[in-house]
Amino acid sequence: MKSIQLETERLLLRTVREEDVPAIYAYRSRADVGKYQTRYRRLADARRLIKRVRGIALNTPNTWHQLAVIEKSGGGLIGDLGIHFTGKENRQAEIAYTIAPEYQGKGYATEAVLRMMGFLFGKLRKHRLVATADPRNKSSIKLMERVGMRREAYFRKSFWTGTEWTDDVLYALLKEEWPVIKNIKKGR
Ligand SMILES: CC(C)(COP(=O)(O)OP(=O)(O)OC[C@H]1O[C@@H](n2cnc3c(N)ncnc32)[C@H](O)[C@@H]1OP(=O)(O)O)[C@@H](O)C(=O)NCCC(=O)NCCS
Repeated sequence: MKSIQLETERLLLRTVREEDVPAIYAYRSRADVGKYQTRYRRLADARRLIKRVRGIALNTPNTWHQLAVIEKSGGGLIGDLGIHFTGKENRQAEIAYTIAPEYQGKGYATEAVLRMMGFLFGKLRKHRLVATADPRNKSSIKLMERVGMRREAYFRKSFWTGTEWTDDVLYALLKEEWPVIKNIKKGR
């Protein structure tokens, strides 16, 4: 399997394509979007993100897969999600997410991440998912907590941004915790 297509009530999540480069660059090059993650400086940065997915089978250990987040009601490409297949046994993954500022605050990131988690725990049988963020990135921390992840670690000055060493918080969720989270989100 090389590509994925998943659906939620308001979104389509599908493997990124070459033609997504300008739309991804448009928000990934913004200073506010790049405040706590790598900011894209050139179109080539967005091209690289897509290139790293092409030709690599989904779920290959030590590789990334990238999904475009599409608003079904017409907004087009509004964000992207990353999946890093980690661990020697290939039963763990790191997840990452970005939503264009004009589409933030609508619950789209929560909706997309919960769907991606369902796919990773279900179809790909992952045992544990993790996500990390700069502790100053309040929106990212709120999102990790909203989707049910638990804070497991706080690393001091462990991430080199290119200009400074920053702290890093790590959140995780186990497969056995997932049914509880899924049902809470469905209001059961
Ligand atoms: C991290 C990021 C994806 C979070 O996006 P977000 O829009 O805040 O998250 P959600 O889509 O889950 O939206 C939640 C907000 O929408 C509101 N909301 C509105 N309608 C909603 C709905 N139908 N369902 C759920 N929430 C809804 C919630 O109340 C919440 O608001 P609050 O933040 O004021 O509490 C976004 O800030 C981002 O892309 N940042 C830049 C990139 C980045 O730093 N990525 C992470 C690197 S570690």
